Amino acid sequence: MGQVVVITGVADGMGKEAAKLLAAAGDTIVGFDMNQTGIDALQKELDEISRASGKSHHLVALNITDRPGILRFRDDVLAKYGRVDTVLSNVGIGFFSPFEEADLDAAQRCLEINIIGTAAIFQAFIPAMRRQGSGKLIAMSSLVGQVPFPFESIYSASKFAVEGMVMSLRYEVAPFGIRVALIQPAQVSTSFAATIHTLPPEGSPYRERARRFIARDDVLIKSAPTPQQAGRRIAAVVRQARPAFHNQLDFMSTFFLFLNRFLPVRLRDAILLNHMDIK
Ligand SMILES: NC(=O)c1ccc[n+]([C@@H]2O[C@H](COP(=O)([O-])OP(=O)(O)OC[C@H]3O[C@@H](n4cnc5c(N)ncnc54)[C@H](O)[C@@H]3O)[C@@H](O)[C@H]2O)c1
Repeated sequence: MGQVVVITGVADGMGKEAAKLLAAAGDTIVGFDMNQTGIDALQKELDEISRASGKSHHLVALNITDRPGILRFRDDVLAKYGRVDTVLSNVGIGFFSPFEEADLDAAQRCLEINIIGTAAIFQAFIPAMRRQGSGKLIAMSSLVGQVPFPFESIYSASKFAVEGMVMSLRYEVAPFGIRVALIQPAQVSTSFAATIHTLPPEGSPYRERARRFIARDDVLIKSAPTPQQAGRRIAAVVRQARPAFHNQLDFMSTFFLFLNRFLPVRLRDAILLNHMDIK
């Protein structure tokens, strides 16, 4: 019997690729995304993948900031399937700006989506998992949830917050048989970065270094894991009965997290700034 897996932000990128692999492995996907067209297309793909098994997947258009909508989604899922085994909190948006110039209203939206969005979807399904005496809560963090990169202060703050939040809540839910895990990608060649990389305006004292950072990022993304490769690793974590707490997707994030833990800060900073061409 496969799992019932909730995935947020399932219409594109890593969430979508993981969903297809999990459906192919026999899991039932329930999820949402604010992109209605993407949801409709994925519903068809998943139904096709599971045609032989007759499993029915449940995807809806929903914004993670719609809290009453999340509770309605939860109620519909539990009414239809009676249980949920794993929640993958995948929705996340980037935020690229020199800290000094960051639009704080936009920053607040990023924090709402990345942090409170994760809290909302986990909170919604914890009672059912607690009653079942089992479940897995998996949050998408990032390398920058432990190793902040320049021009990503707001995004880094959001992923540090996600890491702190789940590290704390895992103590609370462990006695009920609920396991908690983090996924910490470095770069993955989804459309994620391209949509946020805008240069600071002419005259900005940060423009030249931001330009070099973006140029370097554009080079690095060419050798980054594809969404399909990342999706395979994420699906493998979701399918483990007892996933590790920290899970990286590639050597890059494992390497930087290792450096972060063991190198003196000055040396670590020199490596990072050199790596991103912004010494
Ligand atoms: N791509 C990377 O390089 C990278 C690196 C580290 C961490 N991550 C994290 O991995 C996760 C997935 O990233 P991705 O690259 O696959 O993203 P993506 O942009 O390719 O896909 C994200 C999906 O979330 C949906 N979405 C965005 N805002 C939403 C909202 N408010 N409500 C509902 N749906 C919404 C989008 O429509 C999209 O389908 C994110 O949490 C991201 O922060 C990505």
